[in-house]
Amino acid sequence: MDHRESNELTMSQLSTRHLLGIKELSETDIRLVLETATNFKEVINRPIKKVPSLRDITIANIFFENSTRTRLSFELAEKRLSADVVNFSSSNSSVKKGETLVDTVNNILAMKVDMVVMRHASPGAPHFLSKNVPANVVNAGDGTHEHPTQALLDAFSMQEKLGDLTGKKIAIIGDILHSRVALSNIFCLQKLGAEVRVCGPVTLIPKYIESLGVKVELDLHKILEWCDVANVLRIQLERQQIKYFPSLREYSLYYGINKKLLDSLNKEIVVMHPGPINRGVELSSDAADSSHSIILDQVENGVAVRMAVLYLLAGAKG
Ligand code: CP
Repeated sequence: MDHRESNELTMSQLSTRHLLGIKELSETDIRLVLETATNFKEVINRPIKKVPSLRDITIANIFFENSTRTRLSFELAEKRLSADVVNFSSSNSSVKKGETLVDTVNNILAMKVDMVVMRHASPGAPHFLSKNVPANVVNAGDGTHEHPTQALLDAFSMQEKLGDLTGKKIAIIGDILHSRVALSNIFCLQKLGAEVRVCGPVTLIPKYIESLGVKVELDLHKILEWCDVANVLRIQLERQQIKYFPSLREYSLYYGINKKLLDSLNKEIVVMHPGPINRGVELSSDAADSSHSIILDQVENGVAVRMAVLYLLAGAKG
């Protein structure tokens, strides 16, 4: 699909030239991304998976934090759209010699780069960048703040399974405190009309969460009985400077989800996880690999959703 060829989609544009967070997107923006992603999902399942939509565009993926899914998914999305792609990771760059973020990115932009996809450990880093460099900026995860493309691909995957999300009951379970996926999911799902609740040990639930219109449930069985979807999050030990629960064994005992527990609910329930999974901690292998799970569908949908985001941002007015 070339944007010069498509008629209806070129009529609709995002209200922003950057994707910094879901908080800044309108419901219309979100629905436009999801509708556009449906077209791209069809494209990536063709024998020839490539379209020429971004053939004049150069994109830099700059990752200051580790990533498997997001980095590969963006790179594939860019290549499927025929963009030129350069990849940068801080571990073997001049950042190690003390170069600033803006200097690093401006040097990359001097090589005629149009768009920057960035993951950074500091919340707000992509917002800062968007004010200081003349390129479209896409947030690929900023610390514990937002991970907007993960929320969009999660919403796309839920819609694919359940249809319209209005009134659907979505539980986000696990380490909410350190999760950028939780915040982006809450903003996105509420804008699409779903009801969101969170569940986990009280020490891993941020105090502000109820001010977002999100109810807290500390009992795993009760939340599983309530929800249509359980979006299970990883325990982020690398962000935990203190102990939030006595041991992983105890966490798993109270908040771990296994197939026996899912089957005992006697209802349809969709299990999701943004990855990477701590198998045997928040999810057992038999639950992660069960028919309840759509975890690998999420990964496939990530490419289509990121194609939609890049395509729409390239067409956005500055
Ligand atoms: N879901 C997610 O962001 O995974 P990565 O850290 O592997 O990119």
